[in-house]
Amino acid sequence: MDVTILSIETSCDETSAAIVKNGREVLSNMIYSQIDIHKKFGGVVPEVASRNHVEKISQVVDEAMEEAGVTFDDIDGIAVTYGPGLVGALLVGVSYAKGLSFSLNKPLVPVNHIEGHICANFIAHKDLEPPFISLVVSGGHTHIVHVKDYGEYEILGKTRDDAAGEAFDKVARSLGLGYPGGPLIDKLAKIGNEKAIDFPRVYLEKDSLDFSFSGIKSAVLNYLNQQKMRDLPIVNEDVAASFQKAVVEVITDKVIAAADKVGVTTIVLAGGVAANSGLRHEFESKLENRDIDFKYPPIVLCTDNAAMIGSAGYYEYINKRFADQTLNAISNLKLGEKYYVNQN
Ligand code: KG4
Ligand code: ZN
Repeated sequence: MDVTILSIETSCDETSAAIVKNGREVLSNMIYSQIDIHKKFGGVVPEVASRNHVEKISQVVDEAMEEAGVTFDDIDGIAVTYGPGLVGALLVGVSYAKGLSFSLNKPLVPVNHIEGHICANFIAHKDLEPPFISLVVSGGHTHIVHVKDYGEYEILGKTRDDAAGEAFDKVARSLGLGYPGGPLIDKLAKIGNEKAIDFPRVYLEKDSLDFSFSGIKSAVLNYLNQQKMRDLPIVNEDVAASFQKAVVEVITDKVIAAADKVGVTTIVLAGGVAANSGLRHEFESKLENRDIDFKYPPIVLCTDNAAMIGSAGYYEYINKRFADQTLNAISNLKLGEKYYVNQN
């Protein structure tokens, strides 16, 4: 029997709704981005994000239904991101989904946002099956995850300070590039010299699969200050290329080490930073002579969107992991932690 999920995502600055069939087929994926609103402030302002979600949610859901050509009768369940993310932003989606679930008498399916990012790959790669290693790199998260089965995760490594996307955003800001910084650094790096500046590669203890990005962020700031103090030129393209290279070298080494450690032969990328062209190239070149499958989603499925939540929601739905009206937003929800009330 087909399962059609209406999914809702409002964890940060995208208001998104999607219709996803059987976890892999996207009938619609409407994304209203607030980036232009937050740009003025140089980053996401939580209160402003919540207010804009409230204004847009209804319209975005209607558009998703219309685009997919479905009515509420066709929907089997309502999936919603309930964490991690900005609590006020999450609450808008959670409240809306609870309202729909109650009025339509359809199951409410709670979804972890990080799990959603990983599941974007099930949409992009129809033949992808666990086990695999997923690198989840976004504005808020940097995890190396062993996806053992659908919905079964082991975190092998994570950042001890800044997330990878946060480091990109902070470095971009110190270069005066604007928000969000990742795509802007990526663009400049393409025309810069990655060997121009020798920024530190932070590997932590031997065999550690954890990350630390605060050191490289400070190294970039120090470099910029020193150049200014000595009245020397700053070539933004070279700073961007050298910074990006230092980050992607460490990330790729650790992810490949993780795959070797657990003996899996598929690596998939997830999250906003998975859109980074330097990261993709570094993986491709390091894996050239290895028997490892390397995959990533198209950019629209890397950054926040509801289709990925609909995919993750499908696997929760078929396992009957539903929530009731007590579902709340959990801003610091961990991967693998699940809140549900019904399970057979
Ligand atoms: O997954 P996402 O849309 O939101 C979170 O859940 O955090 O990721 C947003 C992050 C931002 O930090 C943004 O700068 C980064 O992803 N990002 C990139 C690129 N595109 C987006 N970072 C590096 N290179 C890119 N091309
Ligand atoms: Zn995200």
